[in-house]
Amino acid sequence: MSKLLSPANVGGLSLANRVVMSPMCNYEVLKQDGIPTPYHFAHYGMRAISKVGLIITESTAVDPHGRISNYDLGLWDDAQVPEYKRLVDSLHYLGTKVGVQLNHAGRKAEGEAHPVAPSAIAFDENSQTPDELTVDQIQHIVKEFGAAAKRASEAGVDMIEIHGAHGYLLNQFLSAVTNHREDEYGGTLENRYRIVREVIEAIQVNFKGPIWIRLSLTDYDDTGKENTMKEWQQIGRWLESAGIKLIDVSTGGLLPKGPNFPVHDGYQTPFATKMKKAVNIDVSTVGLLDNPGLCEYILQNNQADLIMEGRALLRNTNWLMDAAHELHDHEFKPYNVSYERGQK
Ligand SMILES: Cc1cc2nc3c(=O)[nH]c(=O)nc-3n(C[C@H](O)[C@H](O)[C@H](O)COP(=O)(O)O)c2cc1C
Repeated sequence: MSKLLSPANVGGLSLANRVVMSPMCNYEVLKQDGIPTPYHFAHYGMRAISKVGLIITESTAVDPHGRISNYDLGLWDDAQVPEYKRLVDSLHYLGTKVGVQLNHAGRKAEGEAHPVAPSAIAFDENSQTPDELTVDQIQHIVKEFGAAAKRASEAGVDMIEIHGAHGYLLNQFLSAVTNHREDEYGGTLENRYRIVREVIEAIQVNFKGPIWIRLSLTDYDDTGKENTMKEWQQIGRWLESAGIKLIDVSTGGLLPKGPNFPVHDGYQTPFATKMKKAVNIDVSTVGLLDNPGLCEYILQNNQADLIMEGRALLRNTNWLMDAAHELHDHEFKPYNVSYERGQK
């Protein structure tokens, strides 16, 4: 049996396999109320039936003014809990574990009249200049993460992922490029990390399951100002001692810059491996991992502990069944006998 499709204990969770549906915004909350619609039940349900080990639902806002778009899911209000719980229950019924990615978009909150950020620096010339957060406002956002975690707990999620990547609010704090503050939330690496530590503590009060975090380990910046790998590894060690169970390694999104090398299958995995060398907790990898053979190679060689699948799962609902075929994994059981017939 392949390592990719075998049961595993990873990131504080017991999973049926090492394939995770990576969080992906769907822009399908058409009433702009943050509440799941029948679309979300079908979209995530299809992937649960395909037997992914864990579904992390899309970036879910902790504050209505911190949404990536106004069509994202949200957990900023108690009224959002019942339908989100129904979604979690239905995915559990279909046999998968479920996590939620909690996020505040900061200066990348599209459609927000007054976006906020650690410093008043716009993403690019087409974006609004955000308002610099006061310390009171920062502490309010920390509480919002805690309150959203309480709601996620009431909804029955198995894990919470903090979105610390892709240039959203927490990523903006972590980077000296976007954080020019001179108070306790800016300056040294430890100060820039402060809000992340406080968010973790606020979540831990209300949620007893495993907490993961997604980080972007490079901004593809060539000005010499971005965090170095050594600094990211230091952050990784702080996260480990704060109780984080898995670091989900991604890249980019802080600046309007893409990879400064030819993109290829698994191009982000070396970043995950470098983090893995620095910490004693699990690390996942994401990005162009459509090839199951490559995923198996990464796992067998301990380059990462878990595989996140994004676009491959959007293209092919039955990616796992095809992966079993390609890996000659005869132990993999499709959802039911009908799906088994589809394998023959
Ligand atoms: C439509 C779409 C929406 C996305 N939304 C999110 C998101 O909400 N949160 C997040 O961390 N990443 C998001 N991503 C990034 C994916 O989770 C993933 O990291 C990226 O697509 C690279 O993996 P892939 O090559 O397997 O697609 C999104 C990607 C896509 C294609």
